[in-house]
Amino acid sequence: MPLWTGRFKKELDKKTNDFNSSIPFDCRMAQQDIKGSVAHARMLGKQGIIDSAESEKIVASLKEIAAELEQGSLAIDMTAEDIHTFIEGELTRRIGDSGKRLHTARSRNDQVALDLRLYLLEQCDALESSLRALLAVILDKAEENYDAVMPGYTHLQRAQPVTFGHHLMAYANMLMRDLDRLFDCRKRMAVSPLGSGALAGTTYPLDREYVAGLLGLDGVTNNSLDGVSDRDYALELMSVLSIVMVHLSRFAEEIIAWCSWEFKFIELDDAFSTGSSIMPQKKNPDIAELVRGKAGRVFGDLQTLLTVMKGLPLAYNKDMQEDKEAVFDAVDTVLICLDTFAPMLETAMVLRDNMRNAAAKGFINATDCADYLVYKGLPFRDAYKATGGLVATCIEKGLTLETLPLEEYQAVCDLFDEDIYEAIDLDNCVRKRTVKGGPSPVCVRSEIVAMRERLTELK
Ligand code: ARG
Repeated sequence: MPLWTGRFKKELDKKTNDFNSSIPFDCRMAQQDIKGSVAHARMLGKQGIIDSAESEKIVASLKEIAAELEQGSLAIDMTAEDIHTFIEGELTRRIGDSGKRLHTARSRNDQVALDLRLYLLEQCDALESSLRALLAVILDKAEENYDAVMPGYTHLQRAQPVTFGHHLMAYANMLMRDLDRLFDCRKRMAVSPLGSGALAGTTYPLDREYVAGLLGLDGVTNNSLDGVSDRDYALELMSVLSIVMVHLSRFAEEIIAWCSWEFKFIELDDAFSTGSSIMPQKKNPDIAELVRGKAGRVFGDLQTLLTVMKGLPLAYNKDMQEDKEAVFDAVDTVLICLDTFAPMLETAMVLRDNMRNAAAKGFINATDCADYLVYKGLPFRDAYKATGGLVATCIEKGLTLETLPLEEYQAVCDLFDEDIYEAIDLDNCVRKRTVKGGPSPVCVRSEIVAMRERLTELK
């Protein structure tokens, strides 16, 4: 039975009931709904709004319901209008009139706003630990490969030498910012809207801060209309999650490329690859591709709620019931992506020799060659031009800067000497890039240490 039977003479049409009902998806907030009701009942008792014995009775029965739901001995009635209706109905079935007092000074509008905040706060914790787990894997891999020379790219063209450790640390930095954003969004989420009522607060002498305190929240919302109609916290979370997916899908894209025969920089473990039903030789990076693909889903979820919310008049409108499936899907998707990505990366074999061989081709030490001339006093533009000419000669003769004879160098510029070969040695090129944030093994190592420290301090 819905909670609003008083003025109606007919039951809701069956199909319309299904259309209206949110229980298929809001049932996952059952525990948060009960938690909120326990706090509300305690406050009603403390304030003398309901009898304290009745308040205790409500709390005890709600706790029983919570435990039974947890154990699976109580099944949720999927024909109920929503999870709030189901739990209040179950409470009343168990303790009669006392149960009917629970909803004093409360509306489902502030109730659902609270439930969603509480549920998403827990999901923020889960997201935090999954992000941390992936970061830990990246940091370990970066440490193992802090000196593995590989080509760095722009326009997907070999550009300048970096190390695989340095490349991985770029992703660590992205995810670190994601973690920061998650913490920031959590701050605004952790306030209680209870007391906003349907939209206009209530005449009862509530203690809203007490409720917030019982729920472990940092404070209460400031305005009753905003309290019931604000979904910024879900939008913010989905924005954070969309950015996480931008990062994961870029990383996935690189993994897919690195697994190809064209690159062969890494090989994924069999446990994280798939085969082809027709081509016996295939080992496909489906997991990375799925992560890349699921980014679209999460962006879509954010777009869904942005569009639902735009243009809604204050305060609550039923459109807002559409918030849950979008935000739940975004959270579920990102969690599964993070939790699959981490072991896939952890078990991937890094083919350092192939990276190194790729770095040896493509003239990625050309900038270093130009810099050599600059250190000897030539203006950079002239040094750039001279080196360009050398590259052209190498291409013509099928040589590399390492194998080009000194005479060829000296024919272009007399500042060249025997020490040019040391200056363009790939290991040296990387080692000398000691500018803060640079790829030199020393920098990468200290960046790893610094990030590990930040991760332990971050709360
Ligand atoms: N299922 C509803 C939702 O998710 C709960 C709030 C219902 N409030 C109302 N006035 N009908 O938004």
